[in-house]
Amino acid sequence: MRKLTWWTMAIVIGLAAGVPFAQQPEPTNPVQGNAQAIDQGQQLFRLSCASCHGLNAKGLRGPDLTTGQFVRGGSDSQLFRTVMQGIPGTDMPGAQFSDATPDQVWALIAYLRTLSGPASEEEARGNAQNGETLFWGKATCGQCHMVRGRGGRLGPDLSRIGVTRSRTALIKEIRTPSGSFTDGFWPVTVVSRDGRRIRGVRKNEDPFSLQIMDTNERIQSFDHSDLREVVREKSSLMPDYGADRLTDAELDDVIRYLRSL
Ligand code: HEC
Ligand code: HEC
Repeated sequence: MRKLTWWTMAIVIGLAAGVPFAQQPEPTNPVQGNAQAIDQGQQLFRLSCASCHGLNAKGLRGPDLTTGQFVRGGSDSQLFRTVMQGIPGTDMPGAQFSDATPDQVWALIAYLRTLSGPASEEEARGNAQNGETLFWGKATCGQCHMVRGRGGRLGPDLSRIGVTRSRTALIKEIRTPSGSFTDGFWPVTVVSRDGRRIRGVRKNEDPFSLQIMDTNERIQSFDHSDLREVVREKSSLMPDYGADRLTDAELDDVIRYLRSL
């Protein structure tokens, strides 16, 4: 009886302190290398992941998953956690929200393991140092973008963009930025009652008011009732970087720089 009480207390204290009783071994993939699971994983990938990571997993909106390098950790248990729970604060959803079972997540990981090879030739292109010089110099990216606390604020902070976007997505965003806009950076032109036009990016809007950051990085607030019009622009405040502004080789350098951060 007395022994039992001691045990109960030990368990209660242990739980309260969050101490595991027996050190659990890190889980490893029970279906690693299993052909059937890999097939199932591939099908699941096409259904639930390809929209962001691409059919070949080389990345679209989400990062390339074929490099064998995972910034969130590449062990079986770390990958399991990433895929099951998602990455809070990012576009990466958790499989648990689409009712995936642990078996399905392990199948997905078994499939992902078949994709990784050494960093592809494509990734090895470019020169980061040259890219850094271009970024802050001739290409003027730093006038609108922050990297590690330095730079402009009209566009999004790019300190982490190199690890969260694929090469393909970065090329598209730099060559043709008007294809899609980042939340908080939608281009607008505000037309006041007296006909003044102010360009900027939309920060906040409710039925009564609108806040924008104008092209001089000033935050300006307006009451809708004081405005003649709010034009939702189709083209980004970021210029198109065609080959005339940034050659293919220079683009490789800039991307390499962003990836190196
Ligand atoms: C709506 C878009 C979206 C979907 C759908 C999506 N992901 Fe992601 N995923 C992302 C983004 C964005 C990131 C990068 C997040 C960050 O680190 O900022 C990411 C990151 C990851 C990572 C971490 C990569 C690393 O380097 O650590 C893994 C692994 C991953 N996703 C696997 C999957 C799998 C498997 C699925 C399908 C079950 C999936 N993702 C579905 C957008 C998505
Ligand atoms: C005149 C300001 C300006 C300049 C110069 C500029 N950008 Fe941008 N950039 C923006 C704005 C505003 C956005 C957000 C709207 C959009 O997505 O088009 C943006 C978006 C981006 C995005 C997408 C970010 C995301 O979170 O999705 C990337 C990548 C990017 N810029 C890279 C660059 C690079 C690289 C250069 C230099 C070669 C550059 N930009 C030059 C203003 C600029």
